[in-house]
Amino acid sequence: MALQAETQAIVTQFDFSDENVNKAVREFLRQMDEGLEKDGTSLSQIPTYVTAVPNGTEQGLYMAVDLGGTNFRVCSIKLNGDGTFNLTANKVPIPKELMVAKTASELFAFLALQIRNFLEEHHGDQFEQHVRRRPTMTAPEGYKDEHVFRMGFTFSFPVQQSGINKGTLIRWTKGFDIPDAVGKDVCALLQEEIDKLHLPVKVAALVNDTVGTLMARSYSSPGKQGAVLGAIFGTGTNGAYVEKLSKLKKPLSGDYDNSTGEMVINTEWGSFDNQLNVLPTTPWDIALDKQTPNPGLQMYEKRISGMFLGEILRLATLDLIKNPKVSFFKDENSASNDWRTTTYIDKSSSLYQEWGLDTSIMSVAAIDESPTLSALRQLLESTLQVHMPAYEDALAFKKIAAAIGRRAARLSAVAIAAIVLQTGKLSDPAHDNEPIDIGVDGSLVEHYPYFTDMIYEALRAVDGIGEQGAKRIRIGIASDGSGVGAALIALVAAGMEKSTDNLLGDLRSGAANASDTAASSDSEEKPTAN
Ligand code: BGC
Repeated sequence: MALQAETQAIVTQFDFSDENVNKAVREFLRQMDEGLEKDGTSLSQIPTYVTAVPNGTEQGLYMAVDLGGTNFRVCSIKLNGDGTFNLTANKVPIPKELMVAKTASELFAFLALQIRNFLEEHHGDQFEQHVRRRPTMTAPEGYKDEHVFRMGFTFSFPVQQSGINKGTLIRWTKGFDIPDAVGKDVCALLQEEIDKLHLPVKVAALVNDTVGTLMARSYSSPGKQGAVLGAIFGTGTNGAYVEKLSKLKKPLSGDYDNSTGEMVINTEWGSFDNQLNVLPTTPWDIALDKQTPNPGLQMYEKRISGMFLGEILRLATLDLIKNPKVSFFKDENSASNDWRTTTYIDKSSSLYQEWGLDTSIMSVAAIDESPTLSALRQLLESTLQVHMPAYEDALAFKKIAAAIGRRAARLSAVAIAAIVLQTGKLSDPAHDNEPIDIGVDGSLVEHYPYFTDMIYEALRAVDGIGEQGAKRIRIGIASDGSGVGAALIALVAAGMEKSTDNLLGDLRSGAANASDTAASSDSEEKPTAN
């Protein structure tokens, strides 16, 4: 009984009522406006220089790379022009030490190497031709423009963009911390390392994963209207939406096409309400924030995204373990355990290590509705070294995990609701009954059971949305958003290249410097004239 009551006391602290959802939506709208007016606000509202969303007819072969979480992805994408695409991809985990490397070039050199491996493996012919031509760089038939891959660079951290392939890193998030890179142009950092390897690749577009998701959803989603929002609920969280240029009051430094009257804005909503005007805060949120390299920042993200939920759960679980009123994950007597044995936690249990609890266990906790919670109990034993957890213990763990997951989903609904309201489409007769399309991606929306259902439940409670409005909001997964979306933006960027752009200049001069070495091994080869 005591365990039930103490569990409930924890669960209640994660409540986020309908009233609180509404209050937070109003504050989100206020902070959105503030971010459109000036720099340095908590919702950054970064202009992306992307002024149109695709319609599915786009065609061509592009490359895309994606840095933003636990893995680095390299892909090539063939857009078929009918809303479909063919994608080839490699994925490698980012070594932990590179996430906190001393210099930016250590990380970016690793990325360039993965690009070379990918080209060798999947585009060998093109790569070979390129390598053979290298020694004759001075000949007019040197690099051919059509052999240079335009690459979209999905870089999912806050970046101050100043053009379609230019942007300086504002700050790292999600456990990355390389101060040397802050304030530098991340496209230039990558291009430099690509050039050192003489790869036929131009970083043509800089893309946040949310912008990519928005593009990908618009390319492949049914219906004439493009998506209004691309959102990520994964390791981190963020959203990009289509805003009217007239509402964007702060000055823009780079060139853009203003014919559509719109621009995609990267909200960087992970930092919504860093000042904690409306965000709910438990003792475990406070403890978690202190453990991160960026305390006081990304406060919304730290309550929502996959990187943090497991740690909140671990901290709350530890408090219950230490609570003298209950015996949780331990038994006084085997008679009180349904296995008729004694539960205990191994001293080396990852429950005792910071970040030791992987958020994925929350999905199993949510999905296991079996009478004995057997799947969850097995996992508690195998991943957290809790020996023979009793049914009551597993149930308590399940309830706390569910409360944390539910709060995350309801908080996620706040951003979605605010952006839907900001578009004005629900109240505009010109858009009567049209679906309002939202592309989402990330481990929470993909794998956490009922995450989207819980978002809808909260959306229905929002003033100005309600039952009817929620029915019009169509939330759909945009898989591979960051790859396909980056390719689509590289396509837009290719269209913007001027004939005066010295696209191959850097590659040529880089290769010319290296041609002495290359000439000795390749000098027998004839240049390929094409
Ligand atoms: C970053 C965003 C990104 C989001 C999702 C956040 O930590 O600041 O730029 O879009 O994670 O990957």
